[in-house]
Amino acid sequence: MQIEGSTALVTGANRGLGRRFAEELVARGAKVYAGARRPEAVDLPGVIPVALDVTDPDSVAAAAASTGDVSLLINNAGSSTVTSLLEGSLADIELEMNTHFFGTLAVSRAFAPQLAAAGGGAILNVLSVLSWVSLPGNSAYCAAKSAEWSLTNALRVELAGQGTQVTALHVGYMDTDMAAHVTSPKSDPAVVAKLALDGVADGQFEVLADELSQQVQRGLAGGVAALYPQLAG
Ligand SMILES: NC(=O)c1ccc[n+]([C@@H]2O[C@H](COP(=O)([O-])OP(=O)(O)OC[C@H]3O[C@@H](n4cnc5c(N)ncnc54)[C@H](OP(=O)(O)O)[C@@H]3O)[C@@H](O)[C@H]2O)c1
Repeated sequence: MQIEGSTALVTGANRGLGRRFAEELVARGAKVYAGARRPEAVDLPGVIPVALDVTDPDSVAAAAASTGDVSLLINNAGSSTVTSLLEGSLADIELEMNTHFFGTLAVSRAFAPQLAAAGGGAILNVLSVLSWVSLPGNSAYCAAKSAEWSLTNALRVELAGQGTQVTALHVGYMDTDMAAHVTSPKSDPAVVAKLALDGVADGQFEVLADELSQQVQRGLAGGVAALYPQLAG
């Protein structure tokens, strides 16, 4: 996928990683639609703000209708309520699923015809190391990211026929508002955006942006005991 000359739509482009994606795409010569719930919050020069709430079907349809030439879709928008599946509120659990799973699904379905019209194009889904491992206390987000991972695999297989490349980004903590409460080491979202776009340009199925993601992916082969050592007797 050639980034220069492409037309990208980034969801959640007003801050955090999404803003970094939009910035890097402009630098690489793409036309950029910056999707945001509040388009007036988009402060990047050189992008076209587009109103887009990924959980609102009317908003998704309007964004698709107002564009028409998207060849690279970046599903970046994300919520983090830090909610336990067992003890948290069902409303927060639904928010996580609605944003990460149903939102990504709705946007992908709405924009797939534009990607096809562009000759196939590409989708980049922003997943997480938490697509692969569940954290106590944050399990609603983890479940939503796991569902989004499965969705990403489905999109890759089902859109192959129209020539759409689907790349998954897995990453641990990044230095954004979402992880402001975290004291562990965090990646620079500008660096992560560059790595992910390099992966898209190279046609990679997945980009593992940090050592933690690589380590946890290796852990999948070791089964439950490898990923959850606290369960070992
Ligand atoms: N930060 C991390 O440590 C980390 C690690 C792994 C993966 N991720 C993933 O990286 C992606 C970006 O997160 P971030 O770290 O940049 O978080 P962030 O700084 O909190 O930004 C989240 C972005 O998503 C937008 N958003 C939330 N709900 C939305 C909706 N319904 N419709 C449209 N936009 C919506 C927000 O818009 P508003 O300004 O309107 O709220 C904001 O632009 C997410 O998918 C997240 O799950 C983050």
